[in-house]
Amino acid sequence: MSDNLPPSEPLGRPVRLAVLLSGGGTTLQNILDRIESGALDAEVRIVVSSRPGVRGIERANAAGIDAAVVHRKQYEDGRSFNDALHAALDGYEIDLVVLAGFMSLFEPRDRFRNRVMNIHPALIPAFSGAGFYGHRVHEAVLAAGVRVSGCTVHLADDEYDHGPIITQKTVPVLDDDTPDSLAARVHLAENDAYPEAIRLWGDGRLRLDGNRIRIAAE
Ligand code: GAR
Repeated sequence: MSDNLPPSEPLGRPVRLAVLLSGGGTTLQNILDRIESGALDAEVRIVVSSRPGVRGIERANAAGIDAAVVHRKQYEDGRSFNDALHAALDGYEIDLVVLAGFMSLFEPRDRFRNRVMNIHPALIPAFSGAGFYGHRVHEAVLAAGVRVSGCTVHLADDEYDHGPIITQKTVPVLDDDTPDSLAARVHLAENDAYPEAIRLWGDGRLRLDGNRIRIAAE
């Protein structure tokens, strides 16, 4: 593929993924499980973690997938960190970079423009951006008293949790919710939303129209 738009035809082969993470890797595991079950036609070629010693790396190792650590703390600035991230992906022929609980900023640059997806455990643009990750998101949702939350999968650009939205799934916020109970409900929605968005990308059904994504009929 020579342009920087999502494919307009089905790839006709598994989508080659790089998964970037910083923690537990339940998002990675869900993708691997969906691939294993045949529900998602994709292949995780490499996992890159911004932190050493995380469970996400163990999950990659257990699945026999190449894994690399590009430790954010060892880089002076975002630019040199991103140089190292991009170098880690060299040679893997990646179609799509999937951010899966990646707590640093990945710069798509020209190489991966419109080829980076992120999942966020809220309905962006609410409760999103720098500092909104993990439990903090659900704590903020409960503090605001909103009645619905959910998750968002979007094409990622150079800002945290920002870029054209591919899919959003909503869940109710219940009166007796805690951050844990809400997180669990949102997580179930995430488990369907991410594979669905990757599938749409691989099936060539995403059309970029300014800041909007339109989904072509099958
Ligand atoms: C997921 O809930 C994901 O939506 C969230 O981090 C979690 C990662 O879990 N991402 C963000 O908050 C991005 N701003 P995991 O490490 O177990 O996959």
